[in-house]
Amino acid sequence: EHPEVISHLTKAFAFPISAYDGLVDQFIKELHEGLTQENAMPMIPTFVYELPGGDETGVILSLDLGGTNLRVCRTTLSGKGQFEITHKKWTISDALKKGPGKELFAWIADRIQEFADVYCLNEQTQATYPLGMTFSFPCEQLDINVGKLLTWTKGFRGVDVIGQDVVKILQDQIDARKLNITVNAIINDTVGTLLATTYKHPGCEIGIIFGTGTNCAYLENQSAITKIKLGAPNFASPTNMQVINTEWGAFGNKSGALPTNQYDAMLDSRSSQPGKQLYEKMVSGLYISELARTVVHDLALKGELFMDASGKPKTDAELGDLAVKERFDGAMMGTMEGDNSTGLDDIEKHFLTNYSLNTSQSDRETIKYICQLISARAARLSAVGIAALIKKRELLTKPKQVIIGIDGSLFNKYPNFRRHLEGALNEIFDAATVKAKISLIHAEDGSGVGGAIAAYLTCKERCYFQ
Ligand code: BG6
Ligand code: GLC
Repeated sequence: EHPEVISHLTKAFAFPISAYDGLVDQFIKELHEGLTQENAMPMIPTFVYELPGGDETGVILSLDLGGTNLRVCRTTLSGKGQFEITHKKWTISDALKKGPGKELFAWIADRIQEFADVYCLNEQTQATYPLGMTFSFPCEQLDINVGKLLTWTKGFRGVDVIGQDVVKILQDQIDARKLNITVNAIINDTVGTLLATTYKHPGCEIGIIFGTGTNCAYLENQSAITKIKLGAPNFASPTNMQVINTEWGAFGNKSGALPTNQYDAMLDSRSSQPGKQLYEKMVSGLYISELARTVVHDLALKGELFMDASGKPKTDAELGDLAVKERFDGAMMGTMEGDNSTGLDDIEKHFLTNYSLNTSQSDRETIKYICQLISARAARLSAVGIAALIKKRELLTKPKQVIIGIDGSLFNKYPNFRRHLEGALNEIFDAATVKAKISLIHAEDGSGVGGAIAAYLTCKERCYFQ
């Protein structure tokens, strides 16, 4: 029994219903500031001015560098919202994430080559094969095929490529391998999610990732983006609309509006970018699992968990990997929260096999409760972002359905996340409105198809090969 610990944690991670309205308003304010001034939420204008109608056809390559995996895809768009994807997938190792960026891109080009070899893409029957690059990091765009990396997020560290055009870096590596491939579009994964959802469900205007990181892209009136000089070359939108990559992970960085506690502060100060991505650090998979580890580790050092007959709290040496940053992944946290056995056997097994730690029933209950508190808060904060976008765009006042495309491991795999997210939307709006008007749709293969559509939009009639 840990009644004091439980009550302390419950208070620390509380997110009362009364907090929603103020935070949603603040979110709308920061979205607006990002559109109108520098040094605010990035709100990056993309070069995507139109959304697909679903009748696009073609065969296009795409690349998807997400938080966990790299995929190389060959997508056949067959119209009527239909598509087929063949892909190969590789896990991005820790060494690649934390090493020099140039090495990461050389590795990516090697994987493209591997794919091209299998699918015989090197025959000179085609002038060049178009490739759409879905790249899940903030880039300033100077054109649809130019993306200057602003900063890494999600624990990637290759400082050597910051400020550079990642399309050029990749294209140089592709050319060095004499591959017959041209990267002709770069988009964020949220833009990919938006494009892919719209291809199947016309009318969708918002794409979101809840995965290793979190972010959102949406369709905005170009006249609202006053920080860009309208009419400047390349910025003349034929539709007067423009997709914005919000990089909403940065919400709260400057305003201090987020309800953070001592554990959030500990996580932030030990992160590779203190003071940055504060919303992402409370919401997304990479960080909520690190938060859970931080809390469990802290309680262990204080003698609240893993106590044995000696009566002495465990030391860092005895706690092993539990004392080490990021050695607790989102999937593991999800399994623990999803453990419904009476003895909480999965939790027992995890601590024994991964950290050689024995747990009492009460330890296991506390650990499960920690995971529940952190993920429920994450889902509520996620709903705040969604509500802010819906309100900012006044989508509920329009007759059509509000369709939101969502992808990422947290949304797709984490037990209870979607349920809590929907519950929170019901609290912010009301259950009847949410049921009648808002559809959260899992963007099936979002970034693969999205990358292909972005490339298609730039090369339309040339997007065919056998
Ligand atoms: C994948 C998309 O499904 O989700 C990627 O294909 C995206 O583009 C990813 O980045 C986000 O989820 P995670 O959990 O891998 O960060
Ligand atoms: C991080 C990245 C962002 C990406 C998101 C989801 O927030 O900065 O570009 O969209 O993760 O993968």
